[in-house]
Amino acid sequence: MTVYRENALDMEDYSRLRESVGWLLFSGEQMQNALAHSAYTVLAVKDGQTVGMGRLIGDGMYHIIVDVVVCPACQGKGIGTHIMEMLIKYVEDKTPLGGRSSIHLAAEKGKEGFYEKLGFKKLPHEYCGCGMRKIIYHPEEGKI
Ligand SMILES: CC(C)(COP(=O)(O)OP(=O)(O)OC[C@H]1O[C@@H](n2cnc3c(N)ncnc32)[C@H](O)[C@@H]1OP(=O)(O)O)[C@@H](O)C(=O)NCCC(=O)NCCS
Repeated sequence: MTVYRENALDMEDYSRLRESVGWLLFSGEQMQNALAHSAYTVLAVKDGQTVGMGRLIGDGMYHIIVDVVVCPACQGKGIGTHIMEMLIKYVEDKTPLGGRSSIHLAAEKGKEGFYEKLGFKKLPHEYCGCGMRKIIYHPEEGKI
């Protein structure tokens, strides 16, 4: 059975889950700070083992979903969908009457279909240009 824990994501699970899908880590200080400043996190636990996570950051109007990961052995069983539905519901519940909220994310290449099923639209579309990003490194590392 899989249970979903809210705001229980710690460094150990965060690092292990990222590594399980081959994602690089950030510095320890950055990860600690990022977890402490998340608006909302979801951790999926199956038979006592942490098998998935998702994280939401934002300011109440604009939100970004990051770090959606299900460990390879447990993919394709609906866990990622459940995590995403909880993250979206959190934003729905916080959206006031007369207001609106915008959720952004960058899909990994080939994963767009997973998010489209959850109602996300690819950019660009008729109203928006492409999503864009810029990665910053420490100046000394950037010189290499
Ligand atoms: C992407 C990921 C989070 C999906 O989680 P999951 O638990 O395997 O997904 P689910 O079982 O909930 O799948 C939900 C639906 O999305 C579909 N889906 C999953 N991956 C998909 C993909 N790459 N493209 C299209 N559809 C996909 C499934 O077929 C399923 O459809 P169905 O409901 O019609 O059967 C997971 O595969 C993962 O962690 N991958 C590695 C890390 C990663 O890429 N994260 C996303 C970063 S943007």
